[in-house]
Formats: sequence, C-alpha cells, structure tokens
Amino acid sequence: MPHDNIRPSAQFNDEDSNRSGNPTFDEVLATRLSRRGLLRGGMGVAGATALGGAAALAGCATASQAPLPAAVNVLGFTPVAKSLADVVMIPPGYSAQVIYALGDPLTATTPAYRNDGTDTDFGNRAGDHHDGMEWFGLDAQGRPSDSATARGLLVINHEATTDEKLSSFFIHPTGGTATLPRPAAEVDKELMIHGLAVVEVEGRGRQWAYKPASPLNRRVTTMTEAAIHGPARGSEHLVTKYSGDATKCRGTLNNCGTGKTPWGTFVSGEENWYGYFFRDAKDDDARKKDKQVQALNRYGRKAGAASRHGWESGGSADTYARWNNSAIGASAKDDFRNEMNSFGYIVEIDPYDKSQALRKRTALGRLGHENATFARAVAGQPVVAYMGDDARGEYIYKFVSAAKWDPADARPANRLGAGDKYLDKGTLYVARFKADGSGEWLELSMNNPVIAGSSYFEFKNEADIAVFTRLAADAVGATKMDRPEWGGVNPKNGEVYITLTNNSARTPATADAANPRAYADMKGSKEQKGNVNGHIVRLAEKQPADAAFLWDIYLFAAQADADKATVNLSSLSDENDLSSPDGLVFSKATGVCWIQTDDGAYTDTTNCMLLAALPGQRGDGGSKTLKHGERSVTTHAGKPQTSATLKRFLVGPKGAEITGITETPDGRAIFVNIQHAGENTKMSDVNDPSKYESQWPANAGYGAGKRPRSATIVVTKNDGGVIGS
Ligand code: FEO
Ligand code: CA
Ligand code: CA
Repeated sequence: MPHDNIRPSAQFNDEDSNRSGNPTFDEVLATRLSRRGLLRGGMGVAGATALGGAAALAGCATASQAPLPAAVNVLGFTPVAKSLADVVMIPPGYSAQVIYALGDPLTATTPAYRNDGTDTDFGNRAGDHHDGMEWFGLDAQGRPSDSATARGLLVINHEATTDEKLSSFFIHPTGGTATLPRPAAEVDKELMIHGLAVVEVEGRGRQWAYKPASPLNRRVTTMTEAAIHGPARGSEHLVTKYSGDATKCRGTLNNCGTGKTPWGTFVSGEENWYGYFFRDAKDDDARKKDKQVQALNRYGRKAGAASRHGWESGGSADTYARWNNSAIGASAKDDFRNEMNSFGYIVEIDPYDKSQALRKRTALGRLGHENATFARAVAGQPVVAYMGDDARGEYIYKFVSAAKWDPADARPANRLGAGDKYLDKGTLYVARFKADGSGEWLELSMNNPVIAGSSYFEFKNEADIAVFTRLAADAVGATKMDRPEWGGVNPKNGEVYITLTNNSARTPATADAANPRAYADMKGSKEQKGNVNGHIVRLAEKQPADAAFLWDIYLFAAQADADKATVNLSSLSDENDLSSPDGLVFSKATGVCWIQTDDGAYTDTTNCMLLAALPGQRGDGGSKTLKHGERSVTTHAGKPQTSATLKRFLVGPKGAEITGITETPDGRAIFVNIQHAGENTKMSDVNDPSKYESQWPANAGYGAGKRPRSATIVVTKNDGGVIGS
C-alpha cells in the first residue's frame, strides 16, 4: 500500500498538530468514509460485518460508580461464526475501527510509521503485542473523570514481539540478526518496543481516534526507571550495579494482564520475564550454590539458559549487560546477578501523571503475573485483589491489604500515594482447592509456621516471600492449576472467575477436582494431550478477605463436536465453542462477562475470538464424574451453556490472539486488542507480503506497508446502543 500523508487512519490531532499540516478530524473522517466501501467489499463474510462503517450518535455520560448503568440481560446480537479469514469479524449492526497500531507516533514530531523495518525511535511510538488495557476518562478540560465517555486515556500493555530465533523480525528491514551477538541497533529497538503506553483517545459520535500529539501520551519501556515498593524494597536480593541499596530498578517487561485500582490508577502484571535473561553455564558454582540457585531453577532459569533475544550480547554497556543474570563481578553491587529479581511483579502507574515513576508492588508477589482484578472496595474493609500465575501447574493468589478502604480515596489528591497505602502492606494468600467444592486461602507470611519453619526453602523475612513467592506457595501445598490467566469479579454478586487457559502437562494421573480433564484431541494429524482447551473456575466468598471459599467450574472450553460426557461438559455449540480462554473482564457498565482466547489447539477450525457471557452463579450446575482409566475424578460443574448465556461476538484475523478489552463507562464503546496477527510468518519471508500469514490491519485500510501489526480496535453499535445488547 502506498504511503500517504494522512497518518495511519483514525487519528485526531489537536490544534497544534493541525497547524503543522496534519489532517483535521473532519478530514480524517472524510477519508475514512471514502474508504468504507473498500473496507466492507474487501472483507465481507456472510453473516457478519467486517471492519468499517460510520454513523453519528454520541454516547451519554454515566457515572461509573453507579452499579450496571446499562445492564444487559439478553445477548441481543447474532453470533459470529467461526472463521479462518484474515479479518476482524463482528455481528451485523456493529462497526469496528482500528485506532492504534504498532509503531504509531505518540508525539507531534514523530514521523508516520513506514512499517518496512526502517522505523526507529520506538520510545515515542506504539510498542508491540498490545495486551491488557484499561480506560481512564478525561473531562473536556483534560482532567481525570470517572464519568467521561468521549475522551480518555487507554493504558496498554505492550507485552512482547513476533520473533523467530532471536529477532523481532518485523521491526528490522530484512528480519534482523538471528545469531549472537545481536547488533546494538537491533537490541535498542527491541528494548523500547516492550512495556506500557498511555494513549489519549477521543470519540466524536461513534468515530474514535487516538491523538498523536497529546501531552498525556507516554511510553514506559524496559529502560524506564522504576521504584521498588513493598517488602522487597532494600532486600539483598534486589541489589544490583544500578541500585546498591535495592530501592530502584529499570523497566517493566512482558506485561500481560492489567487492572484498575479503586483509587484510579493502572496496574499491570509482568509475566514471562525470565526468558529474557542469560545465565552462564557455571553460574551455580559462581553463586556457591546459595539459595538463589534453587530459586533461579524454580523460576525457569537454569545455569546455561539462553535468553530470548540475546540482548546481553549487544555490547558492554549496562543497557545490555543487565540481561546477563550471572554472578560475574566481585559482589552483587558489581554485576546484574539480581537483575531478574526486579521483574515478576504487579506494577502501578498513575496514567494521569507521567512525571511519576512506575512502582513495583512487591507485596503482591513475584510470579508470572497475568492481571490483578479488584473486589468491589467496601468502606472499612481491606482492599482485595485476585491474581493468576500463568505457567503449567502454577497457582492462584489473592492479596488482602492491611489498610481498610476509605471511600475518600476513590478520588485521592495523590493517586500513587493511595497505592502505597493499600498495596505496600498486606497479606498474600494462595489457593488450595478441595475435592468437596470448598477451598482455602493459605497465608504466605512469616506468621505461617509452615513457611517460617520450612525445610524446603529458607525464608528469613517477608522480602524472601515477596521475591520467591512460588517457593512459598510450594511450601504450603497450594493446588497446581492448569495455567491461571486472568481473573474477573462479577459486579452482580462478587464471585471471582479465573481462566485456566490449557495445560499440556495435565495427565490422567494428576487430574483433580479443580483441574479434572486430561484428554486427547486431534489438530489435523497431530494429537494434543492434557487439558487441551482449558476451563474457567469460579470462587464464591462470603467476604473478599475471607480465608474460605466455595468453587465450581463455570465453563469447560471445548469443541462443539467433542464428547459431552468427557470433554464438552458445558454443552457448547457452534455458536459458542472456544478453546484456551485467557482474557476475562466483567463489564462494569453492563455486567456482561467478556471472554477472550489465545489459542493454538482449535486454530485449524477458527481464529481466536471474543465471546459474551451472562453467567449464573456458583453451584448452579452439579457434580460430574470423569473416568481416567482406573481413577475417577468428581468435579463441580456450572450449568451447561446455551446461546442465550454464551455467544461468540468477534473473531480475529489470522494468527492473532484476542485480548485487552476495556470500555467507556456507558458501555457504548469497547476497545479490544488484536495481538500478533501473522505470528506464524517466516522470518525469511519478511519482505514478501504474499507469504505473510496475515496482512492485518493493512488489509483493513490502516496504515502503510503490509507487515502485520498488533493493534487496538474500537467496536460500537450502529444504533448507538450498548455493546452486547
Ligand atoms: Fe500473556 Fe499468559 O498470557
Ligand atoms: Ca481439534
Ligand atoms: Ca494472557
């Protein structure tokens, strides 16, 4: 596609940038309308609508504090069929636009994205692999607003990049260097493409765009200074050449899920950070086999581990050396042996104040964090957040603050100060699921004698638990789950839903009541085993801070044609079958539970998807017993689904994961992230668009070049109604 001087479509520009010759809103809209026929004609698929469309109907402002301002009690849309097309499919009567894609400029002076591998300055551009995302409203004067529906900030995780071997190949001209050492210039780009972005967006009627010149736009990358907060601040395990007193560190990495705190800030989970570090083959000896070695092994970095991108090979500067997690200096102050311990946390930023550094909230534990979802804050009660650790056989956690919620903190003068108050002191728990449908939260603190007296690992203080959380959870005997991903809290009844995306390591011998399926499924000629398609567990507590809970399995993901007695236990049909649930968000406006997939098991039949659900409540189904040879496992299943309770709303382009859903407070616009379209493209084909697995979003009329790009879309209803109704 020829590069034109209209910045990749769907950008509104403020007055300053208009003066410098960029298009006005009206010009952008006119261009977009002129493309509409092409968009529809190029992507139409029977029974659904592809990206495109325009109409005008402004949403009305609604207070986000009010419960379910626009409750949806009936899923009124036509379900979208499974699809392998390279488009975003949505129901008839809805429209979608791309508004923010990899490389898009975040300052008025950053050039438009060429999308041919020659672009630089990613610290001022959109990062890659858009993941979790939250909306923060702005009033007409640009001030924080809980009720604003037409102007806001999207805060977006840029989790990772599309790689082959070592290289993030779509951002380098000919695919980059796949062998060591990596050239510094390539590493520099890759370091800046990860992290977070704060992006101002504006809706005029149903037309949305981001504002490239907004002074509120911000990038946080792997190189941005961060402050260590909570019990691990000052810990010996966080001493580095960069911070001898272990109070600061650099960057955030592999940010996956997100959360919005009751005091109006953004939190993000650092997930697969360990893969970015190199460890010398002799590092166990260099560390004299101290307890760090046990922890490094437990966290996936055995001696001799290679790093994902070889960033440590970019040169001798600390920028590169910090990715070598080996004890090579005289002491921890002379090297980066502890650098990896500065990742794996829930991190917090104030989206409205870019002058404030990111804070690592170590009290919430160090794991492969997905999101953090908060229970409704109640005056006089602790603040509670639920979290998953996404790896096979890892755990589900919850954090209970020491401070009791003061409703005055819903709009604090110092938002990160409120974060200090509620997230730096508290108690972390890990879940144990019992076969009878009950469960308990096991305390991870030095007050628990199982931890204080553990012979499994030496816990000396709360910092040890904050940094080596997985070992503490091992020590207390938590339940090993099928890859815990996102959690969501049902605004109607406070029940907690946590996706368990899949687990190839689950076997008939290890199946248990809360992870009961281990089966075989064919993908073409390939046999897949374990919990192939994943499930969603549901917890009910009398109070969020309670140590006890009841549970059931809300949903078993499966192919519609799988056996209903052993695999398709939720009776899924063609209108709602899915695999690998991952993102899960309850709409605070409508109560709809949005479920997103990141799948590789059912992708011979359909691309990844977004479904809308109207869940019941824990215990609305019954017991089911599954035979595993001689063993039988009895589980507690939620009510079977119908197309009235679960319906497919969107299917993404080829190779993409669907993730990161957020909404305006009136429920009339949802923002969704399309991550890594075309990820199965070969690096050697980087300059042959005909061989790309996907050309999205270029094939939807967005931007220059044909290389696929992760992107944010906005979905609205053509009649201006509430999404899902
Ligand atoms: Fe980033 Fe577990 O998904
Ligand atoms: Ca299959
Ligand atoms: Ca995820």
